[in-house]
Amino acid sequence: IHNPAMNPKQRVAEHAASFIENGMIVGLGTGSTANFFIDVLALRQQQGLEIQTTASSAISAIRARQAGLTVLAIEQLSHLDVYVDGADEVTDDLQLLKGRGQDLVAEKLLASHANSFFVLVDESKMVTQIGQQYAIPIEVLPNAWQLVMQSLQQQGASGELRRNSAGDNVAVTAAGNLVLDMRFADIDTAGLNHLLDTHPGIVEHGIFHDLASAVFIADSSGVRESWR
Ligand code: A5P
Repeated sequence: IHNPAMNPKQRVAEHAASFIENGMIVGLGTGSTANFFIDVLALRQQQGLEIQTTASSAISAIRARQAGLTVLAIEQLSHLDVYVDGADEVTDDLQLLKGRGQDLVAEKLLASHANSFFVLVDESKMVTQIGQQYAIPIEVLPNAWQLVMQSLQQQGASGELRRNSAGDNVAVTAAGNLVLDMRFADIDTAGLNHLLDTHPGIVEHGIFHDLASAVFIADSSGVRESWR
């Protein structure tokens, strides 16, 4: 695991896989670090580990099935032992910003329902305050985006409706919604989390407040653990 030549994302994925035990149902995140975790898990299964998985996105489900893992539909779950995913920003007290991808709703659903939620990052994702570097992704019902945007602007936010990667249309999430990428002048994570949790028209948002059980951080010398 402490191979300095190894990609830090792979190193942290290997570290997380060491926490997975026989019989567990494991939630798979989405992104380049989550991909490493899927691959490591498939390897562990070949070596005898007995697990089932569920996935936060179609893309991770396909990768996992192609690697030979059993992927349950989310609606089949009676419980989830652990959810493992990357993040966009992480603070020392384990507050996260996620949602640069298209699968925020399923990611937070699995993160919230798992007995443990492990976050895999490299040092570059560590920040003193979430939402300073990146705007906060806010997934909104398609017909609500203007009203939500206006209302957040009245509360001092600024931002824009997310465009697709080709730039020729709006971005649509896996759940069929639109995304506002918003910046807030004054970020009190708990207060903002509550505001966005309770605002009509908002389906989900990228602040993962008090959800992570542990963050595993790949640094130059190995992997550091930070537990709640
Ligand atoms: C999804 O909403 C995001 O938060 C991803 O978890 C994140 O962008 C993944 O980053 P990496 O590709 O660096 O793992």
